[in-house]
Amino acid sequence: LERDIRAAIDGASDEAAIETVRVAALGKKGSVSDLLKGLGAMTPDERKVMGPALNGLRDRVSEALLARRATLKEAGLAARLASEAVDVTLPLRASPLEQGRIHPISQVIDEITAIFGDLGFAVAEGPDIETDDYNFTALNFPVGHPAREMHDTFFFNPDEQGERLLLRTHTSPVQMRTMQTQKPPIRIIAPGRTYRNDSDQTHTPMFHQVEGLVIDTSSHIGHLKWLLEEFCRAFFEVEKVEMRMRPSFFPFTEPSMEVDIRCKRVGNEVRFGEGDDWLEILGCGMVHPNVIRFAGLDPDVYQGFAFGMGIDRIAMLKYGMPDLRAFFDADQRWLNHYGFRP
Ligand code: PHE
Repeated sequence: LERDIRAAIDGASDEAAIETVRVAALGKKGSVSDLLKGLGAMTPDERKVMGPALNGLRDRVSEALLARRATLKEAGLAARLASEAVDVTLPLRASPLEQGRIHPISQVIDEITAIFGDLGFAVAEGPDIETDDYNFTALNFPVGHPAREMHDTFFFNPDEQGERLLLRTHTSPVQMRTMQTQKPPIRIIAPGRTYRNDSDQTHTPMFHQVEGLVIDTSSHIGHLKWLLEEFCRAFFEVEKVEMRMRPSFFPFTEPSMEVDIRCKRVGNEVRFGEGDDWLEILGCGMVHPNVIRFAGLDPDVYQGFAFGMGIDRIAMLKYGMPDLRAFFDADQRWLNHYGFRP
């Protein structure tokens, strides 16, 4: 019997076959189990001999079954590995693996940072969640002044002291934070996210600005104009930009100006140095003496200028995207089209 069972075990070619052999030998009605059942009917003397013999048989059979099962399992795994192996030397059937793109906003921030970096500017940062004080009061927006209303501010609920935080509506609070922590001469830009409750083809509730600030003892509007022209030439990659400054109003600058550049609009694209369209790209001015004073500096000693530019806007202009809202839809097709290779 043992020889027959061993032959059956060796002959089993997969795990299912091994199970059939096991049931036939060791199952409830198996051949070995039958023999073991027979022990009960034997005399004590017969049992003394046959007991150990049959138990030994059962143990050897079950050991042989286990060993065969393990061998088959290993062979099965080896076969699967062989059949499922990937031949990495085969030519690709589809396009190469998709690679992530750099978002146009990140790209443009890098470009701006590099241009101003060459001009000696460092990068400063401030929080997206600001106090009413940094966003408005310290920037010379009097409490109750209508200029506050124009910002479509997102406010948080007030705390127990009645102080309400807000999402900064511009990067200008970084001016104050920088003046409070750095000694003049100051030359910084502060790119970052800004928020206003506004949404259409050219406005999204979250957008980006870059602030610029220069504070020393002698910087004036002539320097500001030169700096902005240099920036526009480098950023838009044109020989000459024609710029005009229009008087404007910001509580934290005096005088305040808005800057337009001459261009020709062709569909979504703009060409510079031709045409007679004027495109507004930023607000700027000489830092208001009150702001310098609020920062703890003496306005009779220190002066300087600041500017604030919409990053999304100049990104759209440079790279010809028609709708600002698409910037933040996270649509993979848009990102593949307008994103930059790393
Ligand atoms: N903070 C202003 C705005 O968001 C722009 C600005 C910045 C104007 C710095 C003057 C100086 O519209």
